[in-house]
This record gives sequence, structure tokens and C-alpha cells, in this order.
Amino acid sequence: MQHRIVVASGKGGVGKSTLSACLAQEMARRGHSVLLIDCDIGLRSLDLILGVDEHVLFTWADVVLGRCELHQAIMLRGDFHLLCAPLQPERALKDDMLQKLVKSCTQYDVVIVDAPAGIGFGFRMACLAANRAVVVTLADPICVRAVSAAVRQLRQHGVQDARLAVNRFDRKLALRGQLLMIDDIIDQTETQLIGVVPQESRLFAQTADGMPLQEGIALQAVRRIAGRLDGENIPLVIDAAE
Ligand SMILES: Nc1ncnc2c1ncn2[C@@H]1O[C@H](COP(=O)(O)OP(=O)(O)O)[C@@H](O)[C@H]1O
Ligand SMILES: [Mg+2]
Repeated sequence: MQHRIVVASGKGGVGKSTLSACLAQEMARRGHSVLLIDCDIGLRSLDLILGVDEHVLFTWADVVLGRCELHQAIMLRGDFHLLCAPLQPERALKDDMLQKLVKSCTQYDVVIVDAPAGIGFGFRMACLAANRAVVVTLADPICVRAVSAAVRQLRQHGVQDARLAVNRFDRKLALRGQLLMIDDIIDQTETQLIGVVPQESRLFAQTADGMPLQEGIALQAVRRIAGRLDGENIPLVIDAAE
């Protein structure tokens, strides 16, 4: 079965694109053939995060609207492939178009769809393309409320299997009452936890092979999330933030 995972949150700036890029890398490292899709129409960022922004010729919108072939829009990024989002909204796009494209991409066993903020058109498009979700939140009440709404919408769009990733967590701040505790976030979102990613300031570093995701506690936490998505029983670790 193809794993089609939407990374969503309802809220912007919580780390969806960052975690999507890290997850794509880690799923590829686990031997999967991975396609990463930026679904943030108008505000794409994976091309920047992955350092290929100057090389984008076509996007998945060009493919679904018949302006180019799939192979012309696919970008090779380390061990996985990337499809970028269009820079402008396009009236001709229908919400099931990405779903059809993804289902036709049978050469990939893992597809990761980076959803936009909000629960509008782009979110719906991303959800319809997926059969599982990782919902990302920060440990604050505003993000947690948005994630709760996103989980309800995901279910309405047919994605029942949603797991919670708490990003930029700092245990010390949570113990001081400045962030929510993990148990409270699980209770409020009624969503099973898949991992906790600590706050880490040096997430990205341009290296010789061009891979900008820095090895560190955040990437290690995403590696454990990738293992759990793969069905492995990996104990929960909450690393101290730096
Ligand atoms: N675990 C983390 N530790 C520190 N900074 C992070 C972490 N995850 C994401 N960030 C930063 O948070 C900002 C927003 O991340 P981004 O992935 O663009 O969010 P979204 O896609 O949800 O809008 C970026 O500057 C990113 O580098
Ligand atoms: Mg994003």
C-alpha cells in the first residue's frame, strides 16, 4: 500500500514544511522511494528549505493542468524527489487534482504532502491526496486549538489516521508553566502522539552534498517519527531543548 502522509496543522509557522523535508529524508534513508509535495499554493517553501529554489521550472500545477510531463516537474533532492507548488493561485485547479496525480505515481511507496496553513482549498487538496496525517503543533493553546480543528477537517476529508507531532518543545519551559505539557496537548486534541521534536536553533546548515538538514536532536526526533510511521515500536524520548 502507498503511504500518503499529509503534514498539516491548521496554523502557520509551526514547522510543517521543516518536518515534511526531514521526514522525506528519513523515509528515504529507510529505503522507501519518496515523493515530497509542497501543497502551499502561493507560499511554497520546500524549494528554499531544500536549496533548489533557483532550479524550479515546473510545478505539480503545470502537470495536472497539462502544461508539462510529470518527469519535467520532478526535482531530485538527495535520496528523494520533490514537486513544488505554484507561486500563484490558479482558478483551473480542482480540489481532487493532486489526489489523482498522487494515485498515478505508483512508483513511490511514500508520498509526503506538506499542507498550507488554514483549512481552506489548499488544505482540502492536500487532505484528499492523503490516507494518513501527521498534525504538527507547538505547545501553546492557539496552535492546539488549530490542530484540533484540522483533525476534525481531516476526518471529514476521509483521513482517519492522524498522529500528533509536538514541535519546538522545551521541557524546561513546560515545567515552568510557559508551555503546555505533552499530556494536556494529547487530551485537548484527542489525537495519538507520534513524537516530540525539540527546539533546536541550528536546524539547517549548507553542507558539501547540498543537504541542508543538520544532524542534531530535532532530526533524530524526526527519525524516530519516521520509524513509528513505518510501524516500528520506538519508545518515546523527549530530548531536552538546547
Ligand atoms: N524544531 C525546531 N526548532 C527550531 N526551529 C524550528 C523547528 N522546526 C521549525 N523551526 C523553524 O520554524 C519556522 C517555521 O517553520 P516552517 O517549517 O516554515 O513552518 P510551517 O510550514 O508550519 O509554516 C522556520 O523558521 C523553521 O526553521
Ligand atoms: Mg510551510
